Amino acid sequence: MKAEDVKNIAMIGAGDMGHGIAACCLMGGYRVVLRDIEQKFVDKGMAGIKASFDKLKEKGKMSPEAYTDALARLIPMVDLQAAVKDADFVIEAVPEKLDLKKSVFADLDKYAPKHAILASNTSNISITEIATATSRPEKVIGYHFFNPAILMKLVEVTKGGKTSDESISIAYDIAKKIRKVPVIVKKDSPGFIYNRVNEPTLLLVSKILEAGHPTPEEFDAALKPVMPMPPFELIDYVGIDIAVHGMDYFSQVLSKDYKPSEALMSYLKSGNLGKKTGKGFYDWSKGRPAIDLSKATREFDVNHLIALQVNEATKLLEEGIADDPKEIDLAMANGGGSPFGPFVLAQSIGYNVLLAKLEELHTKFPLDVFVPTKTMKAGNIKV
Ligand code: 3HC
Repeated sequence: MKAEDVKNIAMIGAGDMGHGIAACCLMGGYRVVLRDIEQKFVDKGMAGIKASFDKLKEKGKMSPEAYTDALARLIPMVDLQAAVKDADFVIEAVPEKLDLKKSVFADLDKYAPKHAILASNTSNISITEIATATSRPEKVIGYHFFNPAILMKLVEVTKGGKTSDESISIAYDIAKKIRKVPVIVKKDSPGFIYNRVNEPTLLLVSKILEAGHPTPEEFDAALKPVMPMPPFELIDYVGIDIAVHGMDYFSQVLSKDYKPSEALMSYLKSGNLGKKTGKGFYDWSKGRPAIDLSKATREFDVNHLIALQVNEATKLLEEGIADDPKEIDLAMANGGGSPFGPFVLAQSIGYNVLLAKLEELHTKFPLDVFVPTKTMKAGNIKV
């Protein structure tokens, strides 16, 4: 099969990510089946796609013809077998639980045509492991989009242990066709590139909550002037449940340091998960929270976060997960709202400045994850 042969895409999961990815595929000209386990979830996803397209049409970024054409190619469905029966390419975006993903992949393998590629939008979980639920591991790939999928450019295309080069190349071409920036992740590893590099920031957030100061608003106020969404607001936007599941997974497979603090867990337990429930660290009931910049803490600044990112990015190089710092920068600049990747930033700010920031954090929170790597100390990566 070649990328040009792919006409039908089945999107399994119509939540925040599922409906956003489906919208991107529609804009790329594909026929898209949107499937979820209950009609009400499918309806919500359909409404989300329409709302996004309405916004684009109002702003003149989508013509009335393109709008009608795209929505005519969207097919809602609840029956999984029917949803994938004609699919050439299936993208799964169901909750981040390995057992659930494996059972979905076993069904996809049973019902999708033999030639179909099965892609997972997992944020962190091993593609090699998910592929064991199928009889076609060479056709199983990671295909990780970023929230909001309709706007964020990055797609991490991950090679599992048995994925064929052909599957990677088809997935890469499809990502280009839907106007994304694909980055191939050569080694299947927790969090791939983007989430791995950002996970230490989640750890910092978890520890700050445990320490009880600064408050989420004081912390975010110090960072908001230089970030489209500071960390606590972004976690609320993506979902506190998603952040906790990610940290849990990292604590099992990478470092015990990542075990979410009780203070962070209390949000999960209370059901206040952020934007989607109307309340998390902030109140979202009236839209995006207004962060009072006058409350900014002086204890933390953006260089602390950049130091954490650069240090973690050097681990990707040291562990052979990526071999080109430019690819890491490309991923980091396109996954979120930042114009620059960590290595470009390190070069302009100075590795010595960032090393001092990292050491400050490590003194405050003596965690292995915050220990500077050899490469960070050497400070000689040029991009
Ligand atoms: N559909 C269509 N258009 C949309 C939209 C949607 N769902 N949401 C926002 N927009 C448009 C707005 O209409 C606006 O358009 P305009 O510029 O033409 O007026 C534009 O996007 C900007 O939106 P807003 O003015 O509402 O607000 P912002 O300027 O703050 O942008 C944002 C919103 C793009 C979300 C920005 O805050 C941002 O980049 N945030 C960071 C997001 C990020 O880091 N994502 C990665 C998260 S990690 C992840 O996903 C990994 C996973 O594994 C967990």
